[in-house]
Amino acid sequence: MPNAASQQSASVFVMSLDKNFVVAPKRVRGEWSVTRDVTGAGTMLLQVKKITSLAEGINAYELVDPIGGPLPEFAAGAHVDLHLGNGLIRQYSLCGDPAERSSYIIGVLKEQAGRGGSVYLHDNVEVGSSIEVSAPRNNFRLVPANRYVFIAGGIGITPIVPMLREAQAHGADFKLYYCTRSLDRTAFRNELRVLCDEGRAVIHHDNGDPSQGLDFGKILAEHEPGTHLYYCGPGGLMGAISQASAHWPAETVHCEHFSAPTRPVESHDTDVPFRVRIVDTGAEYEVPVGETIVNVLRRNSISVDTSCEDGYCGTCMTRYVGGEPDHRDTVLDPESRQNYVLICCSRSKTPVLELEI
Ligand code: FES
Repeated sequence: MPNAASQQSASVFVMSLDKNFVVAPKRVRGEWSVTRDVTGAGTMLLQVKKITSLAEGINAYELVDPIGGPLPEFAAGAHVDLHLGNGLIRQYSLCGDPAERSSYIIGVLKEQAGRGGSVYLHDNVEVGSSIEVSAPRNNFRLVPANRYVFIAGGIGITPIVPMLREAQAHGADFKLYYCTRSLDRTAFRNELRVLCDEGRAVIHHDNGDPSQGLDFGKILAEHEPGTHLYYCGPGGLMGAISQASAHWPAETVHCEHFSAPTRPVESHDTDVPFRVRIVDTGAEYEVPVGETIVNVLRRNSISVDTSCEDGYCGTCMTRYVGGEPDHRDTVLDPESRQNYVLICCSRSKTPVLELEI
């Protein structure tokens, strides 16, 4: 996800989607469970049990089932979609312990210049508030390895924290590089202090000046066989790491974007109109040049959940059963592209694309 997106999607095993990627939560005998491999995931109505400050501008929200049931399981790297009631759907990584089924914990940085989700959460959500939450999805799963290098920038630490716990639990060797603006803006610093003392973590403050950032070229200069790299953070950091790791084997490099990756300017001069066919109803809709499938469907009263509408969050992932998509996302790996398409950005190479919606 090099310049950031194109080089990386070519050279990096971007996200490992497994068969659990799309799930719908259902309450069965009082417990939330998930139905696997179903598009159009539903949501659970969870309650905010606790809000704590992780660092300046960063809150942790603990979400629980109001009747106390266990929540669907998740693995390190997973995220949930929060449906914020004002039409916003936003993804937040689960930073709690995957073994703890009674709650989900998310860390949210209040970004005044963001897309609105974090400000809404900080300003409107309080203890006792109800929030619609999707089942966990995992685009950033930790693969077994003997050694890991983790790099996080700012709030990008949230998916990495459970990975550290998992790596420790499996006795794997690892090193964390965590870049923040200042100590005050460093989340999880007490938890990470032990790792720093053990020499397994470095917390670096750049005072908001990229020229004071870590030298990723040096950190990633050598790839030791068996080492996997995981990284998450703001755009500048993502681009720098992508370039610095370009010589690593693609399957050993994993990243997750939480904002649109930098992409080269692409020419779409050769785009042509195509039709989407909805398998259930047989209805067909023309997607003109310059329009997205999502917009065409919406205009025809077919609602589709979206969030980034830029091909990097996975919310709009849809199964296709006919035709050949022209994939333009930075999420799906080659295997997932055999069955799924992100309809906020992708088009079709064939005159008709058949979708299961
Ligand atoms: S809405 Fe984010 S990938 Fe389509």
